[in-house]
Amino acid sequence: MDVFDKYALVSGRHSKVVQAGADPFGVCINEVTSATRGRINGRDTILVGTNNYLGLTFDPACTDAAVAAIREYGTGTTGSRIANGTYAIHRELEREIADFMQRRGALVFPTGYQANLGMLAGLAGPRDVILMDADSHSSIYDGCRLSGATVVRFRHNNADDLDRRLARLADQGECKLIVVEGIYSMLGDQAPLAELAEVKERHGAYLLVDEAHSVGVLGEHGRGAAEAQGVEAAVDFIAGTFSKSLGAVGGFVASDHPKFDVLRFCCRQYMFTASSCPSSIASVRAAFRRIREQPELRQRLWANAGALYDGLIALGFEVCSARSPIIAVRLPDEQTAFRAWHRLLEHGVYVNLALPPGTPNGVCLLRCSVSAAHTPDEIAEVCRRFARLAAELSESETDETPLAAHG
Ligand SMILES: Cc1ncc(COP(=O)(O)O)c(C=O)c1O
Repeated sequence: MDVFDKYALVSGRHSKVVQAGADPFGVCINEVTSATRGRINGRDTILVGTNNYLGLTFDPACTDAAVAAIREYGTGTTGSRIANGTYAIHRELEREIADFMQRRGALVFPTGYQANLGMLAGLAGPRDVILMDADSHSSIYDGCRLSGATVVRFRHNNADDLDRRLARLADQGECKLIVVEGIYSMLGDQAPLAELAEVKERHGAYLLVDEAHSVGVLGEHGRGAAEAQGVEAAVDFIAGTFSKSLGAVGGFVASDHPKFDVLRFCCRQYMFTASSCPSSIASVRAAFRRIREQPELRQRLWANAGALYDGLIALGFEVCSARSPIIAVRLPDEQTAFRAWHRLLEHGVYVNLALPPGTPNGVCLLRCSVSAAHTPDEIAEVCRRFARLAAELSESETDETPLAAHG
């Protein structure tokens, strides 16, 4: 028995895809020329799958801050937050995040993934119950598992189902923690936070909202879905990432809880890993300033999202949610989705291919994410290239020639 035998099925599936002409899970961007363009396979490509919602990865204030931080503090901290890895800039960023999110305190983690692991395993233990939305990100699934709590999944965005499950659990668990996302990463739909918050209050539970895809994107000030839906007071813990609208690497959790800071000494994902490198911390501080000072970035993002959304609907594509900067185009099966993804790449458009089991309800998706940095011309060009794809799809349907054989 080989130690890798357990992966035979997965690697067989992957080889088939690669033999068909491209590896959607091994795309290499050879050159990144801007927040919205790169060279892939020698071709200038419009990037429409990078979660770079505000396009800040090349913002001069962010890049200058990162470069200056490397010169001042070095390339890495070489230590964890509880040893030598807390610099003044880590503390300053935590204060700024708390201030931005209008919370009493915030903790910074090396990634958003670790922020979710750390919070779930830090807040909940074997005597507690976590109620998680069924469509949650892997980091939430993994954090739940790590916590040792009893984990109960409720139906996606279904406050009644949450209510029923909480009622059944009335006598179980010391604390109950509900976990949802502001905007869901695959389909781009929003959590109905007001309904969920009402249920949470009635059952005396805590509520954690992962705003990974909604900070900088939703709300008058960019604080996320809870701000946009007017329910911030009902949210006990807000998790976020630096790897999307903030254009860097890292994550955070913010809270008003007066004892929140104890997690600095009890949360293993915070304590036992090297702290974020100075360049990330510095660029994220600059990115938060941009979000504060330039609401027009958010307006541009939504204008672009609306234009692409309308364009794809007009072309007859099935889109999975209401308007959102994540536009998930549903295709009928895995083969068609792969071919469509490959063909788009050949047309110079990069989107994410998302397949089961990584998608809700086994759907096959071309997942687009829009940026404020896309120009209206780029969005129009993406629509034109999707139009070509639509023609190729219907052609291959009628003459039953596999799409990959065209061109
Ligand atoms: C909802 C959600 N939470 C957390 C994460 C993890 O963030 P990071 O990339 O910073 O680890 C992601 C990343 O895709 C996400 O979509």
